[in-house]
Amino acid sequence: MRRAVCPGSFDPIHNGHLEVIARAASLFDEVIVAVSTNYAKKYRFPLEERIEMARETLASLRGIVVEPVGEGLLAEYCRQRGVSAIVKGLRSSSDFDYELPMATMNRQLSGVETVFLPAEAHYLHLSSTLIKEVATLGGSVSEYVPRSVLKRLLAGAP
Ligand code: PNS
Repeated sequence: MRRAVCPGSFDPIHNGHLEVIARAASLFDEVIVAVSTNYAKKYRFPLEERIEMARETLASLRGIVVEPVGEGLLAEYCRQRGVSAIVKGLRSSSDFDYELPMATMNRQLSGVETVFLPAEAHYLHLSSTLIKEVATLGGSVSEYVPRSVLKRLLAGAP
């Protein structure tokens, strides 16, 4: 059983995330979408809602589960669940600069490898931050987020 984890804040989950998660699911037997809470960050959606949006969106896909990371280290979470790889999408060299130290630290902490998947060209510009800003200012993001996310974003739009 090859198990991978796709970790992130998912505030909210968007189509760029979903594309990477689907590709991870084609490479591994099981993918855990692990939703994190970093208390230094200010989130638009509370943890329960970020998990709910991911679950609603991924419900029809086999071999994918969504759960919270909890408060500890991702490396420890991976060790406890027998996760063989962390899967991350890369949009740019700045993503790589951000991800590489974490990948190295996670491997040194628990032996878990990180697998980077190049983001699909159509989604290279997507980030949860940009999507929230555009939606809040009345722009259309329907092309970039699943329906359950769009509904919630529109609830807060002008
Ligand atoms: O979507 P994000 O906010 O960029 O995701 C960051 C995440 C969840 C991957 C990172 O913050 C993380 O791994 N958090 C768990 C705590 C941890 O293990 N920190 C040390 C990382 S080497």
